[in-house]
Amino acid sequence: MMIQKPKGTRDLLPEDTYKLQYVEKKISNMLENYGFKEIRVPVFEYTELFNRGVGETTDVVQKEMYTFDDKGGRSITLRPEGTAGTVRAYLENGMASLPSPVKLWYNMAMYRYENVQKGRLREFHQIGLELIGSSSYLADVETILIGKRIFETLGIKNIKVNINSIGCPKCRGEYQKVLKEFIGKNLDNYCDDCKNRFEKNPMRILDCKQEKCKKYNVGAPMMIDYLCDECKTHFENVKSALKAQNVNFEIDSGIVRGLDYYTKTVFEFIDEKSGLTVLGGGRYDGLVEELGGPSTPAVGFASGVERLMEMVEASIGDEIKERKPDLYILSCGEKETMKAVEIAEGLRDKDLYVERDLIERSFKAQMKYADKIEAKNLIVIGEDELSKNTVKIKNMSTGEEQEVKLDLTEIYSKIK
Ligand code: HAM
Repeated sequence: MMIQKPKGTRDLLPEDTYKLQYVEKKISNMLENYGFKEIRVPVFEYTELFNRGVGETTDVVQKEMYTFDDKGGRSITLRPEGTAGTVRAYLENGMASLPSPVKLWYNMAMYRYENVQKGRLREFHQIGLELIGSSSYLADVETILIGKRIFETLGIKNIKVNINSIGCPKCRGEYQKVLKEFIGKNLDNYCDDCKNRFEKNPMRILDCKQEKCKKYNVGAPMMIDYLCDECKTHFENVKSALKAQNVNFEIDSGIVRGLDYYTKTVFEFIDEKSGLTVLGGGRYDGLVEELGGPSTPAVGFASGVERLMEMVEASIGDEIKERKPDLYILSCGEKETMKAVEIAEGLRDKDLYVERDLIERSFKAQMKYADKIEAKNLIVIGEDELSKNTVKIKNMSTGEEQEVKLDLTEIYSKIK
C-alpha cells in the first residue's frame, strides 16, 4: 500500500508554491517598508518554553502540542506558535540591547494537534510579527495598520477587524473575582476542563467551545468593563487613533484569545465569508519578563498562511502567472546538442529561462513538449543550422520567424 501524508498536513504542489511565493514576496516587501526584519527560530524548543510562555491552562498547551522526549530524555515540543520562540531568541541573542523597538517578522510552520476541519490543520504556517520594546498605543495601532495592509496588498476584501482590551494583571485580579462569582453559581454544570480552569485561569472559561459552557457564559461580566485607568486610557487611545486612520473596526468584548500572554489590546481579523479568523494578535507586556528577561512591553500578531492563500486564490488567483520559458532549444545529434547546451547556459547567465531536451527525444516530440510548456520562443539547432551558423527564432505566439547568427549575443538580443 502507498503511504499517505499524516492527517492535518498538506502537500504544496508547484501550482500552489508559485502563488505562495508571490504572496510571501508582497508581504515581506511591505513589512520591510515598516522596518521589520525577518527572524527564523527552531522548529522545536524545550517544552518548558511553551508551558511558561503560552500558558499551562491553554488548550494549546493542554491538548494540542506535539511533545516528545528526545533520545537524551529532554522534553521537546514542536512550536505551536511563533511568539514564545521569537522572544526566547530575542533574549538569548542579546537583542534587548538593539535600538528599541525591535521589529521582527517570521514566516514559519507551526504544529498543533487539532481536530482537523476546514481551515484547521495540524501543520500550518504563520506569517507573523513582533514589535518588542514599546508600551505606547502607537505600537498597537502600527500592528493593526500592518494587519489591514496585508489584506489590502493582496486584494482581499470583506475582512472584519475586531478589537478588545483584556487589561493588565492589576485590573484582571479585580475582574477575576467578579467573574468567579458569576461562574461559581453554575460551576457544577461546566465541563471538566472549565472546572480545572476555574481556580487557575477563570477567563479561559469564556473561551470554551463546549455548548453547555457557552450557555452558562451568557451574561458573564466582561473584562472591558473592569479596566484600570491606565488600561482604559490605552484602549481609548488605540480606538481614537484607529478611527483617525479610517480603520473600520468593531469592539468585541468576547475576544479572549487562546494564549495566556496577552494584556491590554487584543484583535482578530475575520474573513466574513468563511467566518475564520485570518489574523490574530495583541499586546503581551508580561511575556519577556515571564521568559526570564527584563520587563519589556511588546505587541504582535500572526496570520494563517493557508487561510490567506485560500482568499488570495479567490481574489487575485488568476493574475498570478507562473513563469513560462523564454526559449526552448530543439536539438538532435551530439554536436548540435552540445551547441544547444552552450547557448542555453549562456542565456541563463543572462537570467533568461531556457528549456531544452533532456531525454534525447525526437524533433517532433521536443516540439510537442515545447508547446505544452508554453515556451515563448523556439529555436532549432540541427545539422544545417550548425553548418550555416544561423538559426531561426520562432515566436510561438505570433508564429513569426527571424533568422539570426547562431550566436549567444544575437539570440539574446532577439528574445530578452
Ligand atoms: P493564534 O490566534 O493562535 O495566535 O494564531 C494566529 C493565526 O494562525 C490564526 O488567526 C489563524 O489564522 C492561524 N491558525 C491558528 N491555528 C491554525 C490551524 N490549526 N490551522 C490553520 N491556521 C491556523 C498566535 O499564534 C500568536 N502567536 C499570534 C501573536 C503574535 N500574538 C502576538 N504576536
